[in-house]
Amino acid sequence: MTKAFLKNAWYAAAWSDEVTEDLFERTIIGQSLLFYRDAQGQAVVLNNRCPHRSAPLQMGKRRGDVIECPYHGLRFDKSGSCVHNPHGDGRIPEKMMTPAYPVEEKHLMLWVWMGDPDLADPTRIPDFSCHTDERFKMVKGVIKMDGYYELITDNLMDLTHVEYLHDGILGSDAISRGEQNVEQVGTTIWSNRWCPDGMAPPAWDKLFKDYGKPVDHWLYMRWDAPAHMLLDVGVTPCGKPRGEGVWMYGTDILTPQDEHSTYYFWAASRAHDLDDPAYDDIWAGAIELAFGQQDKPMIEAQQKMLQLHGGHDMDDVEAVYLPTDVGPMRARRCLKNLIEAEASGQNVPEPGHRALDQLLQDDSYQDRVEPVV
Ligand code: FES
Ligand SMILES: [Fe+2]
Repeated sequence: MTKAFLKNAWYAAAWSDEVTEDLFERTIIGQSLLFYRDAQGQAVVLNNRCPHRSAPLQMGKRRGDVIECPYHGLRFDKSGSCVHNPHGDGRIPEKMMTPAYPVEEKHLMLWVWMGDPDLADPTRIPDFSCHTDERFKMVKGVIKMDGYYELITDNLMDLTHVEYLHDGILGSDAISRGEQNVEQVGTTIWSNRWCPDGMAPPAWDKLFKDYGKPVDHWLYMRWDAPAHMLLDVGVTPCGKPRGEGVWMYGTDILTPQDEHSTYYFWAASRAHDLDDPAYDDIWAGAIELAFGQQDKPMIEAQQKMLQLHGGHDMDDVEAVYLPTDVGPMRARRCLKNLIEAEASGQNVPEPGHRALDQLLQDDSYQDRVEPVV
């Protein structure tokens, strides 16, 4: 079954430092894109396919800010227009151009818009300001997973899997016993798990300097279409404000390469031990273990099963559900509705997220399972 992608959306294409003056290729929603920085350091995104005979422009050369195709030497400027034909009388056919895409650099990431350029509104990029906020220390990376991106959305919007897939690291009885609440405002969805008065998962207990006593543990996941998630997660002594515990924002942004593979941009923006670089390695190592060695093999195994057996994707009417699937289901339905609305020419509804700064000023997070809105 061919899946449609949402076109009128910002896709996280790369971390800012992945794109330099060198030509860089990344395929997003099935289209090969060429990235580079111009002489002013501004990111440029062009369709990577030469309109003449489909050579990848990324194999070509830079002539200043102009790209020369490696095959027959046509040259394209930053707007994608062909500006030089070295052959014959040098005439340039009218349609000889490659699309250029709007790109925004925000939260240390490059965001590309592959839909109608008139609708490309940067205020729709969800708030990931914790990447640059000095109250946090971030480590980051990107993992390629050979699986459909909504399988990873399912994984993140239902964190009950931590008890099994991340057993002995992130799981605890308190998580299974925790209260789950799913809320939607506009097109933003929260899948929140509030797990009071239980022993911290082993990894969190270690981060909390071997606290060893019951804590309140929270895992609040915010989702925006197509698959931009931010986890507000931590532990604190029972009934105490979050500042007395350890916590972080976990970035989980999924960008489909195509129907079978996904770029998973992750970051851990910790609010604890900011000046101790040992925690950079601890967080990066924990994520490499949990996401790279535990979630990734599971997602890839699910993808193989679905390809082999057809199986039940969550969208199928025959699929069977658990109550814990309500978060993933809500995100899938919202995205499906957006894709259908886009196909029928309707306006894109507004997301309902609010600035992280407002969230930090809200101390009532402990006794709520509702989202902060
Ligand atoms: S394929 Fe690019 S110039 Fe011919
Ligand atoms: Fe996981």
